[in-house]
Order: sequence, then C-alpha cells, then structure tokens
Amino acid sequence: MSIRIDRENGLITLHTAHTSYQMWADRLGVVHHLYYGPAVGDCDLRGLEYYSDCGFSPQPAGMDRQRDYSLDNLCQEYTGSGVGDYRIGCLRLAGPDGSRAADFRFVSAEAVPGKYALPGLPAACDNGGECETLRLKLKDVVNGLAVTLLYGVYEAADLITRAAVFVNEGEGTIRLDKAASACLDLPFGQWELIHFQGRHCMERQPERAPLGHTIQTLRSARGASSHQHNPFAILAAPHTTEEAGECLGAMLVWSGNFKIECEVNQMQSTRLVAGVSDDDFSWTLEPGGQFAAPEVLFCYSEAGLGELSARYHRFLQHNIIRSVWRDKPRPILINNWEATYMDFDAQRILDIARQARELGVEMLVLDDGWFGQRSDDTSGLGDWQVNEAKLGCTLDQLIGQVREMGLLFGLWVEPEMVCANTALYAAHPDWALTIPGRAPSTGRSQLVLDLGRPEVVEYLYGTFHRLLAGHDIAYIKWDMNRNMTDVYSRALPPERQGEAAHRYMLGLYDLLGRLTRDFPQVLFEGCAGGGGRFDAGMLYYCPQIWCSDDTDPIHRIKIQYGTSFGYPPCTMGSHVSASPNHQTGRSTLLSTRAVVAMAGTFGYELDLQKLTGDEKEMVRAQIARCKQLQPLLLEGRCERLTNAVADSCFTAWQFTAPDRSRAAVSVVVIDPQANPWPIHIRLRGLDPDALYHESLTERVYTGAALCRAGLTLPIMQGDYPAVQIMIERMESV
Ligand code: GLA
Repeated sequence: MSIRIDRENGLITLHTAHTSYQMWADRLGVVHHLYYGPAVGDCDLRGLEYYSDCGFSPQPAGMDRQRDYSLDNLCQEYTGSGVGDYRIGCLRLAGPDGSRAADFRFVSAEAVPGKYALPGLPAACDNGGECETLRLKLKDVVNGLAVTLLYGVYEAADLITRAAVFVNEGEGTIRLDKAASACLDLPFGQWELIHFQGRHCMERQPERAPLGHTIQTLRSARGASSHQHNPFAILAAPHTTEEAGECLGAMLVWSGNFKIECEVNQMQSTRLVAGVSDDDFSWTLEPGGQFAAPEVLFCYSEAGLGELSARYHRFLQHNIIRSVWRDKPRPILINNWEATYMDFDAQRILDIARQARELGVEMLVLDDGWFGQRSDDTSGLGDWQVNEAKLGCTLDQLIGQVREMGLLFGLWVEPEMVCANTALYAAHPDWALTIPGRAPSTGRSQLVLDLGRPEVVEYLYGTFHRLLAGHDIAYIKWDMNRNMTDVYSRALPPERQGEAAHRYMLGLYDLLGRLTRDFPQVLFEGCAGGGGRFDAGMLYYCPQIWCSDDTDPIHRIKIQYGTSFGYPPCTMGSHVSASPNHQTGRSTLLSTRAVVAMAGTFGYELDLQKLTGDEKEMVRAQIARCKQLQPLLLEGRCERLTNAVADSCFTAWQFTAPDRSRAAVSVVVIDPQANPWPIHIRLRGLDPDALYHESLTERVYTGAALCRAGLTLPIMQGDYPAVQIMIERMESV
C-alpha cells in the first residue's frame, strides 16, 4: 500500500519507492504539510513542526489564546484565502455575499486503487496496478465551497501527481478568481529555482538562481504554455549537480495560461504554488457547479538532476503519452518546409519524395500551403479545401504517388486559426476571439478561433475527421502559430468572459482527444511556431512535438538540452536542415547536423536533390545509424554530460540502454579552438566491471574506466565537427 491513513492521529503518508510524503489534519481540520523527501519509513513526523509566536501572524477563531498557531506560518497542503495566511495562496474568490474568504477544513480522506481522472483534462494514466489515489476533501462550511485534493501515488515511478477539483456545495453563486492545482510547502532547506525561459527559436533555456524573500513567478498569459516560459520548475539544493544532490520538480499537465510561483517566508519555509494563471481568469460556480484544476507532476530526487530527468522521462513516456507510437521508432521523415516554403506544386513535392526515398527516408510530410488561397502566410487558414490548382492534381493523386514510392504521407494543419480573408471567417466572424467594437490584433495575419464554443470544436472535428478518414494520411503536424489577444467569446455573457481562455483549452483537448481516439494509428506531432506549446498536456495527445523553428545545430543543442530536463528526447522533433542555416546563416557540417538531430525524432528538412553525391551517401549512412540508435532514444537513459548553456568549447551527451549493454555518446564542437586543449569526457551509468568496446579508437575499457578515467578525444577543428561514439559491452571477457 503506498497510501497510509492513520485516522486516530489524522496522519496521511504517501510512499513511493524512494520518497515519503506526509500530511496531518489537526483538531481544527487544518491540513498541515509535514514532509516530502527521501523515504523515511513509517513514522510520525509531527515532531518536525515548529510553533512560535512570531508576531503579527493572526490566530484562527477558537485559537486566540494560542499565539504560536497561525495559518501564516503553518505548512499546508492547500491554502484558503483571507483568513490569516499572507503568503502566495492557491485561491482567490468572491463568495455569494461578496466576501473574499475561504477557510478550508478537513472533511474526509480515502485511498482508492488506480488513478483518478480529471473531467475534460489530460492526466496521467495507470497502465495496471501502478497507482493508488488519495482523495482528500476539504470544505469551507460558510460559503459551501468544497475542494477535493487528488493525489496519484506512483510507487515504482517515484512520482506523485496532484490536482484539485472544486464543487460549490453551497446555495449561492461563487466566483473563483484563482484556483491553483497544488501548493507545496517545504519547511526547511535553501532552494534554488531552475526554470526554462526562452523566445521563438530559442526555447527552454535553463536559468538557476537562489530563492529569496521575494515572490518569483513563471507564467504565460499567451493562451499557450509559450516559448517564453515552460510550465515546469525545479527546486534544487545549492550544490545539486547532474549526479548528486536534492531536487524536486513540478510539471503541469496543461498547455494554456499558467503560473508557478515561489516564495520564501519570514520563517524560512519555501512555498511553491502551481496551476492555471489567475491573470484574466475567473470561473463562476453555480450551486452544484464544478471546476477541475489541471494536474501537476511532482517528483523528488536525492540523486541529482540527471535522476530527476530520468524519472520524468520514464513517466511521460509511459503514463502521459497515449499514442500507439509511444514505444515505436518513428518513421524517418522528409519535410518540405525549409526546402520550398509555400512555393511548390505536386511535381516539386514528388521530386523531393523520390530523392528522399532513394536515400532511405520513410515518410514525406507536406507542410503549410496545400489548402485554400495560401501562397504566403497572409491568407487561407480556415479554408481547408485542397488547392488542386496549385498542386496540379488532387490530394489523393499526390498521396497515391508518394505511397507508390513506398513512403508514408504526412500533412501539416493549423486547425485553431482563421485568416480574415477566408470563406470560414466570412461565414462565421463570431467564431474568432474578438471584442465587440474593437479591431482585433493579429499575429502572423491570423485570428484565433474560439474553441470554447462547442459548435467550433464540432466544425473542426468534422473537417479534420473527413480529412483523415478520406485520405491515406499517416501523420499530422498540428501547428498553432500565434498567441491570443482580444480574448472574448461571443458565446459567453459579460460576467463570464474570464472563462474564455480556459474554455478554449478544454475545447482543444476535446478536439484532440476525439481525433486521436478516432485515428489511433496516425502519428500526431504538436507544434506552435516550433516549441511554443511543448508541455505534458500536449504530449498526452501528440507523442512528439517540433522542438523549435531554429534548426541551426549549434543552437539546437542548447534548446534540446534545456528541453531534456523535463521531456524525453524521443518527444523532440529534430531535423537536418540546409547549410548555411536559414535562421542564423551559420554553416555547419552535414555530419554535425545529423548528430544533433539524432538526439530527437529524426528527419530531414531540406532539398536533398541539392546535395552532392558524397553527401547523399552520408545521408544513407546517417539513416542506417539512426535506425540503430532509435531503441536507445526510446528506452535509454539520457545523460547531459556537459552544460550546453555554459559550455565554451564542446557539448556532450549520452544515451544508455536500460541493461547497460550499449551506449551512444555524442560530442559536438561548438567553438573550434586554436591551439586547443584536449576534449575529455567521463561517461555515466555503465557497468563498472564489464568490458566495453569503444568505436572511436576501437579500444576496450572497463565501464569503470570509461566513467572514472573517461575518454580523451582527438583534436577536432573546422565548421563545428561532431562525433558519435558507440560503446558496446563485450560478450565474453
Ligand atoms: C511554423 C512551424 C514550421 C512550419 C511553419 C509553416 O512556424 O513551426 O515548422 O510548419 O509554421 O507555416
């Protein structure tokens, strides 16, 4: 049993293989958080609590003589509002009488086998006997607002999921203005916040800084999880490294506006609150109404950041991603975007496909520009009829010829958007998010459809269901190329406009849920101008996401490095593109571009016909090597051997098979040096006593030698050279 409820003492303990989590409902019904950290066995940790009268911290009713008891200083499982806790809170609300208070007290706790589900939201699954659920109900007895805190305890995976479901059990209307998913109070320790900031073409760059007595907020108000911040944060002890030290992560399973806030209080305890952003948010609960706050995945490691990432990778791979593709090597694809942009006809696409097939590519993806009047990015989105005049044939004729070559066919779509000069917009101007009387802002000349309206979701479902049912399509790239403005739904009354952005996400999840259910064999790749919506919510539907629009391998190393803290490499769309690179103008070797792209779902995105004969041979060899590496990428453990953001000369990473029989080490020179120092790397996670063959110098070493003494590489100079070294365990000694 991973959940223990000691009703006599009000203690609830959650156990995973290596961690313990304990909480306690006191005699007032306030639920204290006692502990989350390395496993401590079965014991009562109330002795860890520290009570003192710290002045100006108020006492709840009934406790006025006990000056050392204040909600302001207690570590709590979930906060109320306006009743004496001045730290960042989980909740803001207006009760039926306009009062802003909520005082949650314990009602019930039950442990049930299996994993809870959340209405309308993606959430981690149980593949059979992996999880136990704690349902902890709290309630404000005055206004009737009840919240059920849900905990999914995954013992073997060492992961605890949390979510919160609100129900108005009172008689009047309650408006939620903030409704976080979870609060985590850490009574002791000094923590540093690691988060992932960025911009279009440079997503998820780690930043690490100590938490102070300020509030630090990571947020998106863009209607998508965003290029700028990722809904994932790590708290790490000051000396925590890749291989050692304490750290814990909080990752939202959510793709819309979010907030993760951290604060150190006057008594040096640290609070983290995570959930849907409260900016421009409100949700009205009529009596009986319900609101579900998205899931957060908490994971704790005392073995450094590498172990934390490995646990998230395994969990996302096995418990979040639902697609039948999740454990399968993905088809090696050629995408025409950087080869042609929107300037193509079927002949040009078929030429690209033919060349790709000859070299061993397995799927052709036709990107943007095949539909409506779309010859550039100022028109066409919303009119999803095939532009046969541009192609010079029907879609089926094109697909037929691609399939005859022996390639799978994939297609780009951007369902959530509409251009103002389309038939769809002319027919349904009220389907776009716009404010009455106000000319809307555009982004990439497009408006955002109001997916909070069921009829819009129904229309998109019909349109894309027909597309997938009517054609032989194996893959969909689901793009989303602007952030929201003018968030106003014509279908909602004025007082409910604060629900529009959230309802959009529920509509999107509904749409993606239905299409992926109806077409389980189709491989969906998420995209939002590259990695502008790279999160666990999207991974629930799409087993891979285009990691960034920046395909320059020297930048891509940093982007994939940052992304790998939370997300498995097999979810990162990564392609070999042309040199000089279209985003940066930098020239790099074809071999280097391939080494970097092989750290994700591999493909090409350039005109292969323009390659020299030698280069074509290299592509053939790269595809063969990629096929050997794909199992390692899917099942292996990824080690960040260097810090790609701080590296000055080279970056290195390693994939290791679960049974430690093989590893692949990649090294890329990011700044070639004159009179260079040797490149020296230490590998990780090999069997110390086994003998391994190393492919670069063809020498044999013990695992201990490779991990402790390391490898010295030959000098590498030129246009960013790279090597891939295969490490294979020798069968007999
Ligand atoms: C986005 C994607 C690109 C490409 C274009 C097409 O920017 O990230 O890969 O599909 O849209 O318009």
